Amino acid sequence: MNIPFGSRSEVMRAMTGFVEESVEKYLKPIETNWQPSDFLPDSKDQDDFFDRIKDIQQAAQGLSYDLLTILVGDTITEEALPSYESWLSRLEGIHEESESNPWKVWVRGWTAEENRHGDLLNKYLFLSGRVNMQEFEKSTQFLIADGFNIETGQDPYRNFIYTSFQELATNISHRRVATIAKQQGDPFLSKINGVVAADELRHAKAYMSFIKKIIEYDASEVMVAFDDMMRKKIVMPAHFLRETGMKVGGLWGHFTDAAQRTGVYTAIDYANILQDLVTEWDLEHITDLNEAGEKARDYLVKLPVRLLKISERMANPTSEYEFKWIGIRS
Ligand SMILES: [Fe+2]
Ligand SMILES: [Fe+2]
Repeated sequence: MNIPFGSRSEVMRAMTGFVEESVEKYLKPIETNWQPSDFLPDSKDQDDFFDRIKDIQQAAQGLSYDLLTILVGDTITEEALPSYESWLSRLEGIHEESESNPWKVWVRGWTAEENRHGDLLNKYLFLSGRVNMQEFEKSTQFLIADGFNIETGQDPYRNFIYTSFQELATNISHRRVATIAKQQGDPFLSKINGVVAADELRHAKAYMSFIKKIIEYDASEVMVAFDDMMRKKIVMPAHFLRETGMKVGGLWGHFTDAAQRTGVYTAIDYANILQDLVTEWDLEHITDLNEAGEKARDYLVKLPVRLLKISERMANPTSEYEFKWIGIRS
């Protein structure tokens, strides 16, 4: 049953207790949570340190060009975390609250967990001996400086639909990199990507639970927000990706080509994620909607199958761009 709320802020305020529980349920205590140093060679241990670096570099030799490209792009996406934190902090129902408000606690705690992803993957890239670190660092700087526009405004509904989608997408991407890295003889890279992927799934569950709860208060508005997001298409956070000498966003298509070609993240995944969200939020059985809400729900319920049909007909990209991050394809 929908409770008539006047604004997004009121719904957000009504969820304060729920979010407080979510911090406990979905974020891990820092004292016991994993840290990059749990996996990386210990530079204090002189006997072991250089041997481990040698092992890492040897295994990295077997990684394909496309896989390395995706790994660098994924790492840059993680490293642009300042953009994501500042954008979540600006949302209606969050920005006006005090620093001790559970929504603010959530945003900071989520950021702390996410911060380890870039740290771990960045250090791996440095140790691997396969990456032009300065080009990687410049791309990271560009992406943070260029920012992003996911067209959600300050609306918490649109943003939590977005983060639900996005956390599921990053889970898939890191998980697939883990699988392929193992196949290409790099169990260490496989392991660290698996650890990151597990975080993303836990975060996805949290954001999906936020929307599920908001539906209890304001279902019609959630439907309309979701409908709007899907018509605009979910834009990935690194869509402004570029390398030196390029215009904003110039590298994005080459990066997604590599992801599509290797099967790390494809148009079929996009359709499947949408289906997962439609199922998770049980859209089909949501009634008691206003006219706009009903129209949006009907559109959303049918959309995954439509998108899947289109994506199955898509040809695999063949262009093999040479990224400055890595250099000549050999
Ligand atoms: Fe992440
Ligand atoms: Fe994440």
